[in-house]
Amino acid sequence: MNDANFLKANNARSLWHPMTAPSDSLHNAPTIITGAHGTRIRDVDGHEVVDGVGGLWNVNLGYSCQPVKDAIAAQLDALPYYSIFRGTSNDKVIELAEELRDFFAPDGLTRAFFTSGGGDSVETALRLARQYHKIRGEAGRVKYLSLKKGYHGTHIGGASVNGNANFRTMYEPLLPGCYHIPAPYTYRNPFNETDPARLAQLCLQALEDEIAFQGAGTIAAFIMEPILGAGGVIPPHASFMPGVEAICRKNGILLIADEVITAFGRTGAWTGSRLWGVKPDFSCTAKAITNGYFPFGAVMIAEGVAEVFEKDETGRAAIGHGYTYSGHPVGAAAALACLAETRRLNIVENAAARGAQIFAGVQKLMARHAVIGDVRGGHGLMTALELVADRASKKPADKALPAKVQEVAYKAGAMVRVSGPNIILSPPLVVTEADVEVILSALEAGFGALA
Ligand SMILES: Cc1ncc(COP(=O)(O)O)c(C=O)c1O
Repeated sequence: MNDANFLKANNARSLWHPMTAPSDSLHNAPTIITGAHGTRIRDVDGHEVVDGVGGLWNVNLGYSCQPVKDAIAAQLDALPYYSIFRGTSNDKVIELAEELRDFFAPDGLTRAFFTSGGGDSVETALRLARQYHKIRGEAGRVKYLSLKKGYHGTHIGGASVNGNANFRTMYEPLLPGCYHIPAPYTYRNPFNETDPARLAQLCLQALEDEIAFQGAGTIAAFIMEPILGAGGVIPPHASFMPGVEAICRKNGILLIADEVITAFGRTGAWTGSRLWGVKPDFSCTAKAITNGYFPFGAVMIAEGVAEVFEKDETGRAAIGHGYTYSGHPVGAAAALACLAETRRLNIVENAAARGAQIFAGVQKLMARHAVIGDVRGGHGLMTALELVADRASKKPADKALPAKVQEVAYKAGAMVRVSGPNIILSPPLVVTEADVEVILSALEAGFGALA
């Protein structure tokens, strides 16, 4: 059954892949990964490369994190599942909530609501934000604001606040009451502004303008990623998220930080909110919370929001939301082990150092290859290269080009990710200096092949 030819021939016969057309999968065989260790993955043909993608921004501790594997195995023996819906709980999830409270204390987040992944976390935060206002007697606050280019998963709520038409158009009509403002994306923006600080101010003005237009009293929450990830790694100017926070506070709007990628060290800070000195009302987490070894997530909730729910005497604070796998004990055990390992390794230090190395490396690549129109990063291990047909017009490159770079880079020793015109690098946070050199030289080979 596991013969390589059988796998290649049958990959798309009985399965549909996320994020591509079924016909694409039928005509273009994917790379079939069958093994991994450390920061490396191995395919069905035995070819081994450095994983410049880190799974999907989630395998922060690499593929050989024994304490997490041991915790999962032990938990499967002790208690493989029990629900935490009203009336029951489990030991691991209680322990995890305490650990997360400690971890997120500097962000002012003190309660956890558990989920099965990032999209679930976003959905949870969006729903609890509306409920918060209803409990307080402001039932008219139902709308959501978000950034163009933002990515918040593909549930209907998440897709409605998403800022990329690829995840919206074929699924419309989406949720009513969702409005988008321009992202602080210096390379392309409607203001034609290249200065990051000035662009941040213009986007903040657009936010204020939209709030005035909608009426502050109709808006429940603003959701944003501290650094936009899937939209092509867009780090806002340092003034932007604090500016959003101030505008939200002034207008009674809750701030949801979507930290599905940025929590637990990826930006070189422990959380994206902490990187910018912001205290959100909700923080959506998933991915690295279990290092990708178990589907799991948590929405962290600010003390002030928690108090409104906990002190309610009207009955409106009953939470009519949750998942069968909320607080799954195996996920909780995995998360506990991940947190301990993340702290033991002080993973933020390596993320920052290796992130600086990658960013310097891609800047050098840009100096040599005109097809690279922009490089973005500089905050830990989130880096993107945007490919253009020519630098003057900034016309996006033909999609065959990033695909070719990826193919050649893979042969040369590194897996990189293509997302639209971007090549995205998000390796495990445990990558070594030598691993980063492999990624950079593989990319050099990839771009060299375009010439
Ligand atoms: C910022 C952000 N939010 C939400 C999600 C959705 O997470 P999931 O794919 O686990 O549902 C993602 C996934 O990449 C993400 O990057």
